[in-house]
Amino acid sequence: MSKPITITAALPYANGPLHIGHLAGAYLPADIFARYQRLHNQDVAFICGSDEHGAAITLRARKEGISPKEIIDTYHELNRKAFEDFGISFDIYHRTSDSLHQATAQAFFLNLLEKEALELRESEQFYDEQFQQFLADRYITGTCPKCQKAGAYGDQCEKCGSSLNPDELIEPKSTLSGSTPVKRKTSHWYLPMQNHQHWLQQWLSSGRFDEMAFPITEHQPSSWKSNVMGQCTSWLQDGLKPRAMTRDLDWGVPVPLPNSEGKVLYVWLDAPIGYISATKAWAEQTGKNWQRYWTEPDARLIHFIGKDNIVFHCLIFPILLKSHGGFVLPENVPANEFLNLEGQKISTSRNHAVWLHEYLQDFPGKRDELRYVLCSIAPETGDSEFTWKDFQTRVNSELVAVLGNLVNRVMVLHHTYFKGKCYRTASCQSAELQASVERMYDELQQHVEAYRFRSGLQSVMELAREGNRHLTQREPWKTIKTNPDQAQADLEDMLWMLAHLGCGLQPFLPDTARKVFQMLKLPAQLAWQDEIQWPAGHTLNSTQMLFEKIEDADMEKQRAKLNPAPSDPAPTPSLAAAKDPITFQDFSRCDIRVATVLSAEPVEGANRLLKLTVDIGIDTRTVVSGIAEHFAPESVVGRKVCLLVNLEPRKLRGVDSQGMVLMAEDLEGRLHFVAPPEGVNNGAQVK
Ligand code: MF3
Ligand code: ZN
Repeated sequence: MSKPITITAALPYANGPLHIGHLAGAYLPADIFARYQRLHNQDVAFICGSDEHGAAITLRARKEGISPKEIIDTYHELNRKAFEDFGISFDIYHRTSDSLHQATAQAFFLNLLEKEALELRESEQFYDEQFQQFLADRYITGTCPKCQKAGAYGDQCEKCGSSLNPDELIEPKSTLSGSTPVKRKTSHWYLPMQNHQHWLQQWLSSGRFDEMAFPITEHQPSSWKSNVMGQCTSWLQDGLKPRAMTRDLDWGVPVPLPNSEGKVLYVWLDAPIGYISATKAWAEQTGKNWQRYWTEPDARLIHFIGKDNIVFHCLIFPILLKSHGGFVLPENVPANEFLNLEGQKISTSRNHAVWLHEYLQDFPGKRDELRYVLCSIAPETGDSEFTWKDFQTRVNSELVAVLGNLVNRVMVLHHTYFKGKCYRTASCQSAELQASVERMYDELQQHVEAYRFRSGLQSVMELAREGNRHLTQREPWKTIKTNPDQAQADLEDMLWMLAHLGCGLQPFLPDTARKVFQMLKLPAQLAWQDEIQWPAGHTLNSTQMLFEKIEDADMEKQRAKLNPAPSDPAPTPSLAAAKDPITFQDFSRCDIRVATVLSAEPVEGANRLLKLTVDIGIDTRTVVSGIAEHFAPESVVGRKVCLLVNLEPRKLRGVDSQGMVLMAEDLEGRLHFVAPPEGVNNGAQVK
């Protein structure tokens, strides 16, 4: 049997409905990946469920004046159904309030105690005397020490994005009573994360560590996405610190120890264990063995999440899994960045969002249109933006005009000329079309296996474009008059191609793929690169429209639903203030030259660095540049750049660097080469 693949998608808090940001960030990529693996007949467990503990839930309950239980029951059901209606193909959608989960999380915690993986410590924490309760980080607000804005929370400032701890807040206040909280002694179990620094570093840079139980050689963190590695490296560089794994709260999984009333497991201990309990629940329902998906050495574990969950999945949960023992560690955590909406951050509190359940109501039968657009703009390498204008353009000029048009033309022509009856068994006589189909499979495989779903979808669309070109070139509407056999052969080639197009579409646009197969009278699903089969005399079903144009009026309606008054716009990054003056002499000591990049390669073990060989006119030298997260090596070869050539040579990751490439950084943090005009010779001085 094939390797088990456990694919998890972050358990959404059951404190509000799902929006397009959730989908583009985690659930759609996870679903595409799961469907893709199933096409390859892999043994997939696609796991999700509601995260029903933590301050996110109790805060919402307080706000609405109802119990946490009512909140989670409402939103668990709403979200479960929205995912189902949208066609996200979870094998199970579980919930962390389930008793199986409670038992699993408690057993996990006790195991950690037995392994001496947690330390009991006493500390002082904020306490609301009026409400007689300790305050979770989210229950304390104050002024942000970093940006000086009011309304920051004890764990994070949403204005500037800094993560904080409650002690840093200026003038802290309890959100329960509004009063100034006092400090009180309490004891909690801490995870000494600092003790795990060494192996984490090893594991993240090489995919293994000294005492690793099952070395994974095939897939390793060293090939993780750079946005993910960036966050991990920065946490490790700052030095890991102990983190409390229990809380003084009355909502959560109770700490299973005597004298622990009022204490629960920290939500970030309990929630990821939810992946395991969900797998158990699924295995119980289906007669499978859950351990196969978590403990067998060849099990592959992949977590799909948004960027705010990176540290929990890449550092904390791996520490917990390893401390417990017997579990595999994640092979990859392909986290996405954030999706913005019409120029602003998506905001639940301001109702600036496109809600999934509302989309499904407003656009019945148009699930694939949303999948298509969200996949096309998914924030894979940086934040991205959804606008209704762009949605309309992509549907009309790509789905309707390219994909729908191709399928429709071929089907209609074949029905008109041949009544949908195929003359020969399924096959393709055009070497060109065969090559295009093969290219699609190759590219698709490479992209999806590297978690580049945007590019994967483009490879499928490229096949549709080639199909349109091929049809236009073959002109069956002309040859039908002069050489009908030729017209028939050409159209049957095209039908064969459509079947493969449908196959490639399956992970991305499952409804569309099904419709294509139905028109061709094929089974509802095809496996990867299946041979397309039908006998001579096979008759096609009638033509269905795949997509229809989206009208301006529909878009107007959607835009009108969005909150018009941005009271909380996305924070605008600002320009740095001017530096202190220097003399001309200071400046003239800088020797800046025009140079050409001759070659570029990654630096082993350093995700940010590229090793460049540059021709600076007077010599050829090596420069190590921190641009690898912005540019692929092949894209910089041949570029003219400006280089500070007399910067003191430095060794970076064992490579001698002689100089520095000048870059401009824009407000979004993107880097651009400071490029001299074309035609300026290497060695020319910039003064
Ligand atoms: N509920 C968290 C969030 O929405 C995600 C939890 S993921 C899990 O950010 F790993 F904890 F399950
Ligand atoms: Zn701030």
